[in-house]
Amino acid sequence: MYHLKQKSKIPLHIQLFEALKQDILENYQVDDKLPSIRKIATTYNLSKNTVENAYSQLVAEGYIDSIAKSGYVVIENNYINFSRNYTYENTPSNKEDDIHFDFFPARLEKKSFPLKIWKRIFNKEVNDTVDMGGYSNRQGELNLREQIAKYLNESRAVKCSASQIVMGNGFISSMSLLCMILKKHKHLAMEDPGYHVARRTFENHNFKIDKIPVDSNGINISKVQTSKAKLLYITASHQYPTGVAIPISNRIKLLEWADKNSAYIIEDDYDSELSYINRPIPSLQGLDKNERVIYTGTFSKALSPALRVSYLVLPKVLLDIYKKEFFYYDSGVCLMIQKTLKEFMKQGHWDRHLRKIRTLNKKKHNLMKKLLEDKLKTSMKIVSHGGGLSIQIQPTKPLDFDKLKIKAKENKIKIYFAKERCGGSYQAVMMGFGGIEEKNLEKAVIAFSKIWFEAMSD
Ligand SMILES: Cc1ncc(COP(=O)(O)O)c(C=O)c1O
Repeated sequence: MYHLKQKSKIPLHIQLFEALKQDILENYQVDDKLPSIRKIATTYNLSKNTVENAYSQLVAEGYIDSIAKSGYVVIENNYINFSRNYTYENTPSNKEDDIHFDFFPARLEKKSFPLKIWKRIFNKEVNDTVDMGGYSNRQGELNLREQIAKYLNESRAVKCSASQIVMGNGFISSMSLLCMILKKHKHLAMEDPGYHVARRTFENHNFKIDKIPVDSNGINISKVQTSKAKLLYITASHQYPTGVAIPISNRIKLLEWADKNSAYIIEDDYDSELSYINRPIPSLQGLDKNERVIYTGTFSKALSPALRVSYLVLPKVLLDIYKKEFFYYDSGVCLMIQKTLKEFMKQGHWDRHLRKIRTLNKKKHNLMKKLLEDKLKTSMKIVSHGGGLSIQIQPTKPLDFDKLKIKAKENKIKIYFAKERCGGSYQAVMMGFGGIEEKNLEKAVIAFSKIWFEAMSD
């Protein structure tokens, strides 16, 4: 007997379908006949319609078939017990609230986001221009790309038009698309130490990677010249993680190398907006006369990493491949965000925000530097500063990095090591200040200095 509940929220035909299905799976053989619709209807006091609906669903899902003169019979179904015979362990959640100080080198202060203006523009765009019934432009909204092209021309000396820009929802999404566009160039050279996310993305796309050492002038040019790679990934203006910039003479050599070898240079210009001592160094792309540079940028460093907006600027040949083979790939950036960002830039808020965020972070950068010098004194040297969202330090005396890590955990402090994030032999502690409010910086550095000295043997 099937137990069907008249008063359940689940319709009777679904209850009956489930009961019959279970019965078939447990008790029936192929070619066995099911009771007639009339019989089920009278046995369970159901309408004929209800039973017909249940049978129809069993037919649709391939459990039974209606055979002329025989009625409904069970047909072969390759039933697998899909019920899980394993359980997922509940991984303990990262209790972010428990953390007293987080020196993450790639975040901004929550309060620094221009939320009021953003919300105002967002609401207006959603009400007036966003068509929720349609798809957005797969390459990215044209008028947003126009704004970005204008900004890149004026501020980063990037030579491009909106048609060359392809929007993406973050670095990995932009790089993954690029990897597919560049599928004929599977051999890449990159900085060592270098951006771990870039390396992993290229590895995941099966690129062979040559690691090229970095010195005080950035990537080692002669090693690039002797590499057989046809692709080079660099953070030319602010090397990640060492912070060095490639001087103009070496930039020219890199472009010559690319020309001579028909190679492409991927210029990741991730945080050049945040330059506190010198004016931002103009892009390498702007010096390139032969379309050998692929430029990539992000809104994560100066506006918000939560928005997930990045972009590629493709040289003509690669743009043609993109248009031919990848035109159906969607940028992945929400239309409402694209429209809001476009207006945000068009109305001049982006320029104003850049000035504000630069001033705010410059202040915090200088304060962090001073606090490190005051609190850690000669026990450390600053190896990278002047831009971005962190200052990097190295100990001048023996320091047990494992002990530092343990102490950090015990004291609910989150710290980040260049070696863990970038590989190679370069080691430094990345003292991120972007996410810590100015008023809390001193407390944060005092807490850090305590564990720093504890991890330092005399
Ligand atoms: C070297 C480098 N490139 C690019 C990015 C931008 O990443 P995304 O656009 O995914 O936020 C970052 C962020 O930390 C970075 O450090």
